[in-house]
Amino acid sequence: MYDGDIASVLISEQQIKDKVTELAKQVDEDYQQAAGDLLLVGVLKGAVMFMTDFARALPQPAQLEFMAVSSYGSSTSSSGVVRILKDLDRDIADRHVLIVEDIIDSGLTLSWLLKNLSSRNPASLEVCTLLRKPDAVQVEVPVKYVGFDIPNEFVVGYGLDYAERYRDLPYIGTLDPKVYTSGV
Ligand code: XMP
Ligand code: MG
Repeated sequence: MYDGDIASVLISEQQIKDKVTELAKQVDEDYQQAAGDLLLVGVLKGAVMFMTDFARALPQPAQLEFMAVSSYGSSTSSSGVVRILKDLDRDIADRHVLIVEDIIDSGLTLSWLLKNLSSRNPASLEVCTLLRKPDAVQVEVPVKYVGFDIPNEFVVGYGLDYAERYRDLPYIGTLDPKVYTSGV
């Protein structure tokens, strides 16, 4: 699949599985009080693989909501100016909300999202992200659950795309620079 496009596998399918199980256990312990009332908010499209695996690994029931946002900027960096493409279907007031994200890069998107969702008065609001790039951070955002801290490189796979490709890879990898320069 995608022969030659992936320069290296950064996180294998098995490493992702183990981490998803670990995060789900931790969340389950932390949300015993809220049991049955947890609302997962997945951010489309990048978080979709993580969201579905995470929800199935979670020992307690949770409801699933999705939001789609687009940040104005180039395809590989964000500006912090965010537009809602698809809003939540339901009111989150008094709910225990856990944002499920694929990756935190500059933190600008998440910072905006946290402000937006907290203005809707949830009972609690936390973030669970599979990946974080500590070296890219521009705004500090409180993130309770982090799967992997990764180097400041563009990554694809397991939901993450470049020009809408590679989301279907079961692992996280770095792209061969030839992909950026071939004008696909
Ligand atoms: P910020 O910078 O606002 O960006 O934290 C978060 C969003 O930017 C996308 N993003 C990436 N997408 N590989 C991707 O496929 C990456 O390495 C990458 N870094 C940031 C992603 O949509 C994320 O939600
Ligand atoms: Mg995203």
